[in-house]
Amino acid sequence: MLNNEATKYIWHPFTQMKTAAPPVQISRAKDCTLYAEDGTEYIDAIASWWVNIHGHCNEFIAGKIAAQAQTLEHVIFAGFTHTPAIDLAKTLISILPDHFAKVFFSDDGSTCVEVALKMAIQYWHNQGINHKTKIIAFENAYHGDTFGAMSVAERNAFNAAFNNYLFEVIHIPIPTNENIAALKLQVAAIAANDDVAAFIFEPLVQGAAGMLMYEPAHMDELLTIIKAKNILCIADEVMTGFGRTGKNFAIEYLKQQPDIICLSKGITGGFMPLGVTVCTQQIFVAFYADDTAKTFFHGHSYTANPLACAAANASMELLIADKCQQQIQHISTRHAAFARNIEKHIFIKEIRQRGTILAIELNTAENSSYFNSIQTAAYQYFMSNGLFLRPLGNIVYVMPPYCITDDELHKVYEVIKTSLDYLSQ
Ligand SMILES: Cc1ncc(COP(=O)(O)O)c(C=O)c1O
Repeated sequence: MLNNEATKYIWHPFTQMKTAAPPVQISRAKDCTLYAEDGTEYIDAIASWWVNIHGHCNEFIAGKIAAQAQTLEHVIFAGFTHTPAIDLAKTLISILPDHFAKVFFSDDGSTCVEVALKMAIQYWHNQGINHKTKIIAFENAYHGDTFGAMSVAERNAFNAAFNNYLFEVIHIPIPTNENIAALKLQVAAIAANDDVAAFIFEPLVQGAAGMLMYEPAHMDELLTIIKAKNILCIADEVMTGFGRTGKNFAIEYLKQQPDIICLSKGITGGFMPLGVTVCTQQIFVAFYADDTAKTFFHGHSYTANPLACAAANASMELLIADKCQQQIQHISTRHAAFARNIEKHIFIKEIRQRGTILAIELNTAENSSYFNSIQTAAYQYFMSNGLFLRPLGNIVYVMPPYCITDDELHKVYEVIKTSLDYLSQ
């Protein structure tokens, strides 16, 4: 009944409404547990699409939002500013690598990517450099669902309907030991005419693609060539940011640094939608002029919403505290031990880990893909065992809130372990 009411009025994201099982109605959540209306409990082992880094209903964050709501809930961010935004920008600049200088606010992962792409393109335009128009991105990339974000993504079933409307992008493979030499030559050839404006990448882990991972050393080699060609580099850390990879930001593994970074998801700990695009002073200066035409004409109604900024300030305070940093290392260590424990299982094709992200590629008869049919059976198995995981096709992955307890982690691993036998039958 509840579910009928839900689907009568609501169209759910990334959901084939005809064939999908009715949505599970969640009445409340605390830390890592989702409590369903029917009394069932689920461990949220993917932090609800990777956002709830501190678990659900964190009291510290909730308290800061409540206080902010009594003080200033919103004000237009053109011509006005406020302490929550100033504090957040200061904190982000202080925890990001030193060369970042300016924070631009938006609403979510897709919009902070749009902002990054527009910033990079206008950076050249503002300097009268109009021949730098090409964009390079990685194969298998996912950067969100708006048009710019879809354009820089892998062309696939997600965006097939819009193909004619997406701008042209040159896609290159992620760097590996095998292809790095050829890839450097390929990039040098692409950039030979000095007409590439920007390169966008998900550092070290391509999330939606199935948690595909690559090594920092290879990426440094690639970035060295790209930067030498005077191409702006955009790191999309919407998923990898805020501790996911074992460091606050995945780019901390790199020697070659991007000019722009996109952040969202974990920034507010799952309380409020918020995106930020952070750039260097060099980029900002290209917009800083007496000529109004050089303005960055971009802004959303809810830009730097004070409630979102208050949530983010609290989320950042929790993130940089020793307790959270230790938990990130602890989860990473436990993931690694579990990976060693199951890696020989016949139903595992590959197991990948970077920090708190653990991905298990199931060895099915079908190719590895988001549409691999094992997804449904795997999802049902996990749910019927009180574990919320949302496999990307045949890629089962764990990306838990950092507050997950040892007992909960143990349960996550046990259910995954038994699923391997069950699903391989
Ligand atoms: C790397 C990356 N960029 C951008 C996005 C889009 O974020 P949002 O869903 O908040 O628009 C995602 C979402 O999964 C992502 O993983």
